[in-house]
Amino acid sequence: MTIDWLSMVKGTRKKIVKPVQQAPVRAAGESLVAAEISAFRRKLMQWYRKNARKLPWRGVNDPYRTWVSEVMLQQTRVTAVIEHYNEFLLRFPTVLALSLAREAEVLAAWSGLGYYRRARMLHKTAQFITQERQGALPTDSAGLRTLPGVGDYTAAAIASIAFGESVAVVDGNVERVLLRVTGRPHVSTAAGRAFVQAQANALVPRRKMEKGVNAAGDHNEAMMELGATVCLPKAPLCAKCPVYSLCLTRGEHVTPVRAVQRSLPAAYLLSLRKQGTVTEVLLHRRVADASLMAGMLELPGLPEESVTGREPLLRVRHAITNTNYYVQVFAARSARDRSLMKSLVGREATLEWVRTTRLGGQPLTGLARKVLQRLDVMEVRPVAWGRPAAIESREGDVL
Ligand code: ADE
Repeated sequence: MTIDWLSMVKGTRKKIVKPVQQAPVRAAGESLVAAEISAFRRKLMQWYRKNARKLPWRGVNDPYRTWVSEVMLQQTRVTAVIEHYNEFLLRFPTVLALSLAREAEVLAAWSGLGYYRRARMLHKTAQFITQERQGALPTDSAGLRTLPGVGDYTAAAIASIAFGESVAVVDGNVERVLLRVTGRPHVSTAAGRAFVQAQANALVPRRKMEKGVNAAGDHNEAMMELGATVCLPKAPLCAKCPVYSLCLTRGEHVTPVRAVQRSLPAAYLLSLRKQGTVTEVLLHRRVADASLMAGMLELPGLPEESVTGREPLLRVRHAITNTNYYVQVFAARSARDRSLMKSLVGREATLEWVRTTRLGGQPLTGLARKVLQRLDVMEVRPVAWGRPAAIESREGDVL
């Protein structure tokens, strides 16, 4: 396949002058040789210095903040994380503050980021660090790995970014970059993973942090950035790639097929009432042992037959992992229309009236928050910092 540089660079009619570069002589699937490793590091860092997105967790000198950002960034788009990161740290500026919070407060600050188990683990681990480690995080990857809920990826990210340890971070973005550069097909076997890890280990600089220069941490962030903004899953921007000359596939590499998206309809009730001057909204609390979003608050669900022939107040699409929910929100037609409320009979024990002014402090599901904000029942939190990421995608890994 020849690469059409013209069509790959959006919005330009001009021919991109990209010198024709010989492909590396390595065979597909082989590791980079020593000279290529040095060239890769140098080219990557030159590119990163010019092109790194300004993100609120970059350049911070606080392992707690790095930890929070890395947990938020797992399986979540950068734009969504930007919306939550600063606010979360305003509410919980230290490990101690987080450990002293109630779980519901932590979930409320997490609302909209999804995968709420991460918030619960973060909270529990903060309590562990406060009680068992006088509030200090371990300073190397082996120590960090012993914390509850901290896996290889998070331990390596914190150890390199916050403490300068020479340890490679491998997330889905980094894996894609390395498989393409080496021309190795994607196989999710232990041997396939070991190859990627070994290649990442070979590339991470050995230099210790000195005079504020964090070679390993910056390299890891640059690798993730390259995967997130250039080496995209479907249409890689090879014309912009700093390691194009070292890459064996150059846009041809086949990425694994994504899980098929399912579509499901869902209907919810919006019911508001006035108590004097106070407005309240009816919410349903998910059971404490639910496998997903346990204990969180959502709008009461309505059975399909109760809404046939009704016009919804709002339609929204909401994606959770590989399911697209086509959500419709219904309200009573008049004060005397009780038929929707009747379909909630038997579920009273799980229903709660919540003041609309207090919704910001409640552990709402992402969907409930989205609907309540769209319908102006709940205030939209101002984004405390940041601009949207330049490129967004839900494919492959996290941006
Ligand atoms: N994805 C997860 N952590 C990241 C980071 N620190 N920089 C860029 N992308 C990331």
